[in-house]
Amino acid sequence: INTSIFENAKKGSIAVAQQIANVIKDKQAKGEKCVLGLATGSSPRDVYAELVKLHKNEGLSFKNVITFNLDEYYPMDENSVNSYRRFMREALFNHVDIDADNCHVPDGSLDKDKIQEYCTAYESKIEKLGGIDLQLLGIGSNGHIGFNESGSLQNSKTRLVALDYSTRLAASKDFGGLSNTPKTAITLGVKKIMEAKEVILLAWGEGKSAIINKAVEGTVTNQVPASFLQEHNNVTFVVDREASSRLT
Ligand code: F6R
Repeated sequence: INTSIFENAKKGSIAVAQQIANVIKDKQAKGEKCVLGLATGSSPRDVYAELVKLHKNEGLSFKNVITFNLDEYYPMDENSVNSYRRFMREALFNHVDIDADNCHVPDGSLDKDKIQEYCTAYESKIEKLGGIDLQLLGIGSNGHIGFNESGSLQNSKTRLVALDYSTRLAASKDFGGLSNTPKTAITLGVKKIMEAKEVILLAWGEGKSAIINKAVEGTVTNQVPASFLQEHNNVTFVVDREASSRLT
């Protein structure tokens, strides 16, 4: 795992946005589509803000970009304030020239008996496009990537999962308490994340330092799904000083 340490989250986010822009532009130059795997949560917020700036100020176009988000709570209405689809619209999609049909976020409003089929189709779409060119990730304090919680297998597929207590607790402030916080979510499986050609994981702040240390320097274990990334050949953890403070 390459680690790239920045003075603060803002500087790291600017560098990551620039890197994403370069992948988009390289693909454009070749007349190819660019498939981005995207995350929500607090970690990528500044990256999206920076990409919007690059679109507005430097004419970065998203016309050749196709996105697949990692996850969505289940059940979830797409217009709810906590919906990840809504988060993505407000953080990025509404502010750039991306085709709305090219923006994929798992659908949290399906009937339960339709989910498995939907998840298989989600993966097929990614495969038909030749896989994910660049996958952006955050990391849960328990080591989850997407909502692949502890115990997720390295070859796990896109599926409905039960959220860990720690994940629900972290989300509970957004939902106005634990009792309103969803117990399940749809997540891209570890396998598709590992198949991405390039992975960038973002972590900011002291609160992430212990798990960053485990993921980068600990044993590869399904107890810490982010540790699987040690076996990926093109992954960079982009962290600030605080999040890197326990790395040796
Ligand atoms: C969100 C996701 C999660 C978050 C993780 C960290 O799409 O996949 O794995 O990246 O829970 O969340 P933040 O960035 O809010 O600390």
